[in-house]
Amino acid sequence: MAYKLLKIEYEEFLSLDELEAADRALAEAAIAAIEGSYAPYSNFNVGAAVRLDDGRVFCGANQENAAYPSGLCAERTAMFYAHSQRKGAYLSSIAVAAAQNGKLCDNPATPCGDCRQVMAEFQTESGSAMSVLLVGAAKIWKFPSVEALLPFIFDSL
Ligand code: THU
Repeated sequence: MAYKLLKIEYEEFLSLDELEAADRALAEAAIAAIEGSYAPYSNFNVGAAVRLDDGRVFCGANQENAAYPSGLCAERTAMFYAHSQRKGAYLSSIAVAAAQNGKLCDNPATPCGDCRQVMAEFQTESGSAMSVLLVGAAKIWKFPSVEALLPFIFDSL
């Protein structure tokens, strides 16, 4: 038997000002995207912004439904939108922000397992790391690649 230890590396920033310009712009786009959230059941409003490697940014927000499983998270709304508009470009980064009662949450919202799996698919397709920026009012986490959030990624390709 061999004992194995898995380490996850990520960066923590305390304000948007600490981010490099491109990340800051993506974080701000995710915050702005919260406005499109439709969350009458959870009152948890989430926005996401995806950057393609050609520089284009596509945003999405969570969309709920009276039949709960029919709703979709902000991350997948934005990723599927971006991917459907890719025209040969690849997804290179995603930012996520959440609000409650009209106020950006202090802590970053961390993506659900399904969203992580979709990130993994598009990262694999691109052949390079997709960074994930989770934006809270009090702290911002930057993960350099999807592996950091989804170790042992399932990849049948
Ligand atoms: N949600 C997201 O959109 N992204 C996350 O990272 C966490 C959860 C949504 C799903 C649902 O509309 C609401 O937040 C409560 O779970």
